[in-house]
Amino acid sequence: MSTKKILITGGAGFIGSHVVKLFLNKYSNYEIYNLDKLTYAGNLENLKEIEANPNYHFIKGDIVDANFINGLFEEYNFDGVLHLAAESHVDRSITDPLAFVMTNVIGTVNLLNAAKNNWVNSEGKKFYHISTDEVYGALGETGLFTEETSYDPHSPYSASKASSDHFVRAYADTYKLPVVISNCSNNYGSHQFPEKLIPLCINNIKHNKALPIYGNGKYTRDWLWVEDHARAIDLVFHDGVLGETYNIGGFNEWQNIDLVKTLCRLMDRKLNRPAGTNEKLISFVKDRPGHDLRYAIDASKIQKELGFEPSLNFEKGLEITVDWYLENESWLENVTSGNYQNYYQEQYLEKR
Ligand code: NAD
Ligand code: DAU
Repeated sequence: MSTKKILITGGAGFIGSHVVKLFLNKYSNYEIYNLDKLTYAGNLENLKEIEANPNYHFIKGDIVDANFINGLFEEYNFDGVLHLAAESHVDRSITDPLAFVMTNVIGTVNLLNAAKNNWVNSEGKKFYHISTDEVYGALGETGLFTEETSYDPHSPYSASKASSDHFVRAYADTYKLPVVISNCSNNYGSHQFPEKLIPLCINNIKHNKALPIYGNGKYTRDWLWVEDHARAIDLVFHDGVLGETYNIGGFNEWQNIDLVKTLCRLMDRKLNRPAGTNEKLISFVKDRPGHDLRYAIDASKIQKELGFEPSLNFEKGLEITVDWYLENESWLENVTSGNYQNYYQEQYLEKR
């Protein structure tokens, strides 16, 4: 088997760290280059298990720096790129949209330019953009997002991801860059920064703090275990057809309020608290501006064409996730100390 040099951006983040670990454990002929700026969301502790692997290389750097990115492509002549680096939190995008334009749009275009300039013979190469279902906007009570659904982003985060998807497709059409895109629903699992709904609630329940539910709590998300997303990314990278888009989801819709109540009951048991204790922490707060009502993915294309199936049901995945956070107290403490800014608390904890 020939050796391949694979660039993974954002590999110190939540999903990226699972992808780096999967690839290193599965493909002994891959040299993995993890390029990450280590923002508040990037954490090398996520990669402890594999940092001594001789096929793993960490590069600290910013995708917004075009010269630096071009230099990396010149130096390493990567065979493939999995691009996950991004500003990923919707609430932060409402506070600071420009940071999302810089990393998600400019950063992506810098990577596309570097690939275009350096992949003179692009035979066997692949540029894979890992994107989100939020580009499709909001669904009503029924229906699913398919790969044909028109883009209709509402938050600065989703507008930046939609824009980067458009640039990826434009580079395929204009410069024949070999690209593939996937759009995934909400991920949950270990190592997710505790600003996102599930780890935020786990952390708050542990500390007996209020569980902020935006608006009436009837907003709906489609949840997928992060390790299943990593498996889907592996399939798309290796078997996905160039120029195609694949939606990834778990056929697993939950209204936020039902999800949080389920988590409360699970954690009553885990923390030996009387039934009903944690639900008392639920606090309905001011809604997120531009809040999308419902996301739900039609994942039948990746199911039929690449054979993807989620491996876990949600209750099991949630239990594994809660156990991980309870067993990794120091990880939680490390990421919530230091320069961590509690945007959600400043912005959204106003009672309704
Ligand atoms: P995350 O915020 O946990 O991690 C992002 C990583 O990117 C961090 O390690 C951070 O340090 C790095 N990064 C940020 N700006 C950078 C820059 N300018 N240069 C280099 N590195 C930089 O994000 P995540 O939840 O793991 O999401 C990863 C990708 O998957 C994103 O592109 C996101 O849009 C997409 N996605 C996320 C979800 C989800 O539910 N979390 C769902 C679908 C798609
Ligand atoms: O759909 C995929 C997207 O899922 C990814 O592209 C994003 O990177 C990821 O952050 C996630 O976005 P959401 O906005 O859906 O995730 P979040 O965990 O922030 O919120 C989930 C739902 O819970 C949403 O309806 C808002 C609500 N919420 C969130 C927080 C943080 C609350 O009610 N209270 C909260 O404190």
